[in-house]
Amino acid sequence: MRHIFIDEDIRVLEGAEAQRHLAERNDLPFLDPASGVVAVSPERWALAQRAEQAHWMRRGIGAQDDRNRQHLLSFRSFEALRGRSFRHALEIGCGPFTNLRLIGRTCKIGRCTLLDPLVRSYLSHPYCYYDERMLDLGPTGVAGRIARKLLPRCYRAAQRAMGRCIPVAALEPAPIETYVPRSRFDLVVMINVLEHCFDGRRVFGNILAACEPGAAFVFMDALYDAAPMADSLARQYDAAHPLKVDRRVLLDFLQSNFDELFSRVVPRHSTRTDAGEHLDWHELFYAGTRKTT
Ligand SMILES: C[S@@+](CC[C@H](N)C(=O)[O-])C[C@H]1O[C@@H](n2cnc3c(N)ncnc32)[C@H](O)[C@@H]1O
Repeated sequence: MRHIFIDEDIRVLEGAEAQRHLAERNDLPFLDPASGVVAVSPERWALAQRAEQAHWMRRGIGAQDDRNRQHLLSFRSFEALRGRSFRHALEIGCGPFTNLRLIGRTCKIGRCTLLDPLVRSYLSHPYCYYDERMLDLGPTGVAGRIARKLLPRCYRAAQRAMGRCIPVAALEPAPIETYVPRSRFDLVVMINVLEHCFDGRRVFGNILAACEPGAAFVFMDALYDAAPMADSLARQYDAAHPLKVDRRVLLDFLQSNFDELFSRVVPRHSTRTDAGEHLDWHELFYAGTRKTT
């Protein structure tokens, strides 16, 4: 495994330069040998938030999607939710594009609360899918995507005129760890967020606090093994991804608190072009209903 250091401005350093930076900063101090990196310091998480801001509000200012359509396919188009009707959905770590924009094409959602520490800055992203009032549903075909890319305001007006949108109950500019919901939700979505948080156990506690009994919970993240993590943390640092929760901790949380509707582990593979290094990992796509007892 090569040395890689990705800083909070998304500068990718490799080889000897990466090694120099890794000697000064890495995530090893946060590693628990049995559970992985489950919590980090406020300072470490602040760097992750800086990276997230740089990623979407600078480098990704022309982006329209954060692998959301890829995740839609891995979830088999959210078939597990098809035809259902939800009163109030919460999307945790919604980003600028959200996953509710795709889930809302499969089931009926009365209104939504969008939570993300950066939710207010995302409002000025040119391809943000929501404002204070409405979340627009995503286009279903290539023509719609091109129309939205070229004329985002016209696309928004047309979607809203056709009722292809979900009313926004609230934008919550908070981390999930400190969020105290005013009411509970019957649909909670958290896709590609856990790795970006600062305290996995508080995240799990507040997911449960947000779900009413029987609520649907839709979750996706990378699966990690704590055992080989010391080696990888010594060689690789990515400012945007502070947490690496061991898969047994995660699966225990899901199995203890939810009845499974959908579960799929998908292998992923990528090549870091600069280093020519191959990366292999697994991602979990999960939906369940909150147990009532
Ligand atoms: C990789 S993005 C994914 C966005 C979105 N879920 C999607 O799939 O398009 C991760 C998001 O999680 C947010 N985030 C980071 N820490 C968080 C926390 N403690 N609580 C809630 N959201 C957080 C980031 O600000 C960022 O917008």
